[in-house]
Amino acid sequence: MKEKLEEIKAAALSALKNASDIDALEDARIKFLGKKGELTAVLKGMGALSAEERPKIGALANEIRSSIENHIDTKKAEIAAKLEEAKLKAEVIDVTMPGRERETGQPHPLTKVMNNIKDTFIGMGFEIADGPEVELDYYNFEALNIPQNHPARDTQDTFYISDNVVLRTQTSGVQVRVMEKTKPPIRIIAPGKVYRSDAVDATHSPVFHQIEGLVVDKGVTMADLKGTLEMFIHRLYGDDTKVRFRPHHFPFTEPSAEVDISCFSCGGKGCGVCKGEGWIEILGCGMVHPKVLANCGIDPEVYSGFAFGVGLERIAMGKYGINDLRLFFENDLRFLGQF
Ligand code: FA5
Ligand code: MG
Repeated sequence: MKEKLEEIKAAALSALKNASDIDALEDARIKFLGKKGELTAVLKGMGALSAEERPKIGALANEIRSSIENHIDTKKAEIAAKLEEAKLKAEVIDVTMPGRERETGQPHPLTKVMNNIKDTFIGMGFEIADGPEVELDYYNFEALNIPQNHPARDTQDTFYISDNVVLRTQTSGVQVRVMEKTKPPIRIIAPGKVYRSDAVDATHSPVFHQIEGLVVDKGVTMADLKGTLEMFIHRLYGDDTKVRFRPHHFPFTEPSAEVDISCFSCGGKGCGVCKGEGWIEILGCGMVHPKVLANCGIDPEVYSGFAFGVGLERIAMGKYGINDLRLFFENDLRFLGQF
């Protein structure tokens, strides 16, 4: 029986030595020390021993049991330490690793120029006004002294929603909306999208942006108009940009003018961008027509005013030296990333 006990001890210690996880330890404990385990089986047979041998074998069995138990405890601690170490290794953060780079967006070039223009006019005491893109014929044409069948309707090929509702072809309708609601002095700009069924080319798009300007007060003259626009253009392009006021006709201003700047692509020699003219038209302007003032309930005998409508895309082309307006709308990041 003594040999049997020694055998069990040797087998148990070797099993424990090879155990690599907690489950294997538990299996070994059950196999050797459990109720139906090998050591218990031996002890159950002790009744057959002589009274002399019984205490000796009993003592030996107890010694082996506690030896196996000690080994289990030691092994358990070892395995736990290993697990802890592996866990720490897995969770380690390398603070020297480079961070993930975030791609940041930036304002579209048209937004940049728009903000720049807004700042310039706000600096001159203007406020920002707004109007609808889907507009009544009355505000887009009628109140601006452009009756049905007026030839000016043809120069702004219009998208009609219904007989008396249009996609606005100009921001000038905001003039009327503001004058209806506000008593002079008035000093506003109204930026926004406008729509015309124009064929697409390097300087034309069916959707583009205008910035309307309107000043109404006592004693406003053409000199105020010229001074304001020259200041604006020089702020935008620098003091030595060539500006030309060219007589023109708009039904809602009298007198009227268009303003050109020297071609930003060829510098004035004539090229494809300016269609050989050397100049690029960037805005229309004039003194608010007395009929328009009267349409809005403002007495033209007391008040006068000037107005202008700037094409934002053309302005941005000039500012950045871009020779094709279509680039603004193609959303090519290689282009947009340059501003
Ligand atoms: C007007 O729209 C008038 N409402 C401007 C005005 C306002 C005159 C207040 C008097 C008083 P015009 O049709 O010329 O005018 O357009 C104004 C500007 O919009 C042009 O100078 C040009 O810069 C721009 N523009 C016109 N058509 C297009 C287009 N299809 N694509 C891009 N820009 C355009
Ligand atoms: Mg024009």
